[in-house]
Amino acid sequence: MNPVTAIAHPNIALIKYWGNRDHTLRLPSNGSISMTLAGLETQTTVQFDSHLSADELFINGQKASKRASDRVSDLLNHIRSLANTHHLARVTSSSNFAIAAGIASSSAAFAALSVAAAQAAGLDLDTKTLSRIARRGSGSACRSLYGAFVEWFVGTDDADSFSQPLSIGKDWELMDLIALVDQSEKPYGSTRGHKIAESSPLQTARVSDTPRRLALCRAAIKDKDFELLCQIVELDSNLMHSVMQTSTPALLYWTPETVRIMQAVKSWQSEKLEVCYTIDAGPNVHCLCTPASANEVEHRLKKLPGVQEVILCAQGNGAHLL
Ligand code: DP6
Repeated sequence: MNPVTAIAHPNIALIKYWGNRDHTLRLPSNGSISMTLAGLETQTTVQFDSHLSADELFINGQKASKRASDRVSDLLNHIRSLANTHHLARVTSSSNFAIAAGIASSSAAFAALSVAAAQAAGLDLDTKTLSRIARRGSGSACRSLYGAFVEWFVGTDDADSFSQPLSIGKDWELMDLIALVDQSEKPYGSTRGHKIAESSPLQTARVSDTPRRLALCRAAIKDKDFELLCQIVELDSNLMHSVMQTSTPALLYWTPETVRIMQAVKSWQSEKLEVCYTIDAGPNVHCLCTPASANEVEHRLKKLPGVQEVILCAQGNGAHLL
């Protein structure tokens, strides 16, 4: 069978996904909204082969760990059941950015894998169905099926928890400047984090308030209201990290450099610079800004102690076949 290659970009959540109602299907505790990022990308090739005795996974030229291979095989098993095939697959994946350092590498990886594997298995699926498949691999991956602003619906079951592009704000060109302070693999990954979210007494309050934050985020995008977007994005990030920091075990992803950037962003806002911060499950800080403020924000970030690199991302496209 012919090899098939797909490309996907990571996304940054403006309203975050944290916690699952169903860990196997990755049905989230709350809906989320993201922006897909250009520049950073994962390219994945899948080839089903009747001669293989096990699935094979290579990441950036290296044979992958058993844990990563098992996770990929779980998704391939789902695709095999849909395609009614038993053939095993060779998967090679490469990314042009640090894996597992809180820049949402799994979102790009599982979006690319879903698109490539479905096509390689002979399935002709619409993007909504592909987003449901990607969701099983990594929740945030379901949002990388589309470009620009994307909403992932909390849903009630496997059929209605999928992502969809927001029909509004398509021409609002925001940028994400990722300030890298640490690129090592994080000690406590998102998958484990989702499983302990409920142990925080704050998670119930965070989840029940999500419809309000989603509505405010949609309104900010619709009206291109950067100030409102900043308020809601920072609040949402702070709420998620409050849950992380108060779960058992407590997850503190921030380092002194992370906090220094958060404080710098707050002081730049008081000078009317259009920028706000949001942080995923890692120490690196995503600074959202308007194109007009991007150069100044980049310049200032690079001067902060501990900032190793600043990656500039405009809005990216959805996952697609090469
Ligand atoms: C903090 O999608 O990485 O980035 O489903 O276990 O792969 P898994 O988790 P993942 O969780 C993302 C968490 C987050 C917030 C977000 O992207 O919404």
